[in-house]
Amino acid sequence: MIYDKFAKGYDKAFAPFEKRFLSSWRRETLSFLPENAKILEIGAGTGANFKFYPTSKCAVASEISIKMLAFARQKTNSIALVQTSAETLPFAANSFDAAFATLVFCSIPNPEKAFAELQRIVKPNGKIILLEHVRPPGLLGFVFDFINILTVAIIEDHFNRQTAELAENAGLRVLEVRSKAFGIVNLIVCENKEKAKSPVNLMI
Ligand SMILES: C[S@@+](CC[C@H](N)C(=O)[O-])C[C@H]1O[C@@H](n2cnc3c(N)ncnc32)[C@H](O)[C@@H]1O
Repeated sequence: MIYDKFAKGYDKAFAPFEKRFLSSWRRETLSFLPENAKILEIGAGTGANFKFYPTSKCAVASEISIKMLAFARQKTNSIALVQTSAETLPFAANSFDAAFATLVFCSIPNPEKAFAELQRIVKPNGKIILLEHVRPPGLLGFVFDFINILTVAIIEDHFNRQTAELAENAGLRVLEVRSKAFGIVNLIVCENKEKAKSPVNLMI
């Protein structure tokens, strides 16, 4: 897991960005979460979002890298930490009122599977909120297609994901996309749809 290698330097490397814009984007992103609810974060990293969590009935932060989680542990006593991949979440169906991720879908190997898991564990009509760097529109998009070749090879990070479209294709209702930094970053507000009921077998 490449983030095991990045864990130690992560907070320091991101500090200038946090100061200039990232912390305010994090606050804005988490402001979409319901209060006094059961919430789940995926790819929580070193816990950079913890200070912006709303008052919750139950807050769970999940993350695949054990080394990132070790730094997250130093930032909280009240948030439950779980080591897991976003593609195989160890939670029962409909167990959360809302879920969120920041800067995670760029590095998840199988985003479709992660969206399917989010749909499964979040209650119908529950919010799924994402802050992601994405493929920007226009000519810049082609530049990002090129950068993507390098970033995938070197740091397993996809620079041309179209995350709002992926969310919609996965079956989520995309309510709003707030474009930031020339469309390089999107705050994506989604809602889980009603789930299809299992067909009733009529025994005649
Ligand atoms: C750029 S960091 C973002 C960390 C944190 N969300 C933040 O905003 O600072 C990406 C995180 O996603 C995690 N990640 C990557 N693939 C994952 C997966 N398949 N399941 C869960 N987490 C994953 C990485 O370990 C890393 O902590």
